[in-house]
Amino acid sequence: MSSFEEIIELAKRRGFFWQSFSLYGGLNGFYDYAPLGSLLKDNIISVWKRFYMDAGAIFIDTPVVTPEFVLKASGHLDKFADIASECPKCHAKYKLENLVESLGIKNPPSTPEGYIDLLKENNVKCAVCGTRLIDAYQFNLMFRVTNNSEAFGLYLRPETAQGIMINFKLLNNFYRGKFPMAVAQVGKSFRNEISPRQGLIRMREFNQGEVEVFFDPDHEEWDEIPEGDKFTLVPNSGDEISSSVRDAHRSGLIKNAGLAYFMNLTAMILIRCGVDGKRLRFRQHRKNELAHYSSDCWDAEVLIDSDWIEAVGISDRGDYDLTRHQEFSGENMSVTVDGRTFIPRVVEPAAGFDRILTAVLFHSYYTRDNGNRVLGLACDVAPYSACVLPLMKKDGISEKAKDLLVKLAAHNHSVVYDESGSIGRRYARQDEIGTPYCITVDYQTLEDDTVTVRERDSTKQIRMRIDDILMHDNSFRND
Ligand code: GAP
Repeated sequence: MSSFEEIIELAKRRGFFWQSFSLYGGLNGFYDYAPLGSLLKDNIISVWKRFYMDAGAIFIDTPVVTPEFVLKASGHLDKFADIASECPKCHAKYKLENLVESLGIKNPPSTPEGYIDLLKENNVKCAVCGTRLIDAYQFNLMFRVTNNSEAFGLYLRPETAQGIMINFKLLNNFYRGKFPMAVAQVGKSFRNEISPRQGLIRMREFNQGEVEVFFDPDHEEWDEIPEGDKFTLVPNSGDEISSSVRDAHRSGLIKNAGLAYFMNLTAMILIRCGVDGKRLRFRQHRKNELAHYSSDCWDAEVLIDSDWIEAVGISDRGDYDLTRHQEFSGENMSVTVDGRTFIPRVVEPAAGFDRILTAVLFHSYYTRDNGNRVLGLACDVAPYSACVLPLMKKDGISEKAKDLLVKLAAHNHSVVYDESGSIGRRYARQDEIGTPYCITVDYQTLEDDTVTVRERDSTKQIRMRIDDILMHDNSFRND
């Protein structure tokens, strides 16, 4: 089994995620979060939210269903498309950017016409039936809601961002006209991906966390970029360099200070969630890769099973969205601050939680010398912070263990109880789902209220007083 298949198998068997509707054969591009995956996802989102709350962001929650006129104004109706090809014989559909990438062709074209020439020159064939691909066309990625009773079209949103953009004026009134103003939203987005991938990497319904940071174009809001770790940076020229984000901004490689600031913050969040800093890099979009609203974009890419995958896009959206919504709605989107009137600019760090979760699983997975599998999940995100195990089910030990379980839960620990099988097997079961600590209740506990605490990665065990464990509210997560 490849490591990708191993993780997918573990995710299904141990209840992290599985394909949706599998009872009826499954549906490509849709996944259910199972009990442990749903805890892991929520914990990753909590870490992300905590960082942005600390940075002063405000949060909103807007509808998934979006009227056509909003998406006309935002440019998604006309421009949110992939270039696709359909096999004339078996009708298999291909996203051409992926297809030519797999053929090792660098700098793919940006128009259907360019792709038609490329398909011809390279004699590209359908992977299913071998027929030559000849045509290329724009394929809009939005899901249209049918059977609606309105006179206009309705769509499922392709990004959470527009819910923030169209509320800019109301939000800035709420924020008493201050800048910069960071507004965040967590929620589902939908894209009719031509070729969804196995696992959570390219889905049709996925979980985004986006922050729109509105700022005064004449004010340098981020003059002090904090020093961060060094990363591999891949500017759009293609030459890789190893640098901190701050140095890359100082040298002019990263032009926008806001981009540099949120790249650093993104790296901190990803590493806090358990992404391995050595398998994280930042890649700048080539000109022909930029979304229609973006003038510059750096992706935080994570290495998953030998592919670099975009997990967070940090984009300079300028005043594109507010200007378009001003034009289409007729509402004045400018503000006046200290006698100056301007339309704010926007920097947007846009995270995809499903990809972050996938990277976290890959980067934390290892096997011990005895072949046992371990998820070395960070304490902040592990589904359970501890498992309580009675050494025996008799002599009042399980009652004592259940009592401890209730007390830990009352101190905000996410805890689980396991009394079946040998202690070794129970440790192994918890290691495989990433539980950082196992707490064993034994005969000595009945006498002196102490327990054995075993740490997952070192497997070291120490004796602790129950009172000391309970002293810290959710201490496992914060330590
Ligand atoms: N508002 C900007 C925006 O939506 P994006 O780069 O298209 O930017 C942001 O998306 C993040 O959403 C990506 O970095 C990725 O993690 C996630 N994402 C995008 N499409 C996805 C898909 N089909 N399946 C899973 N995650 C996806």
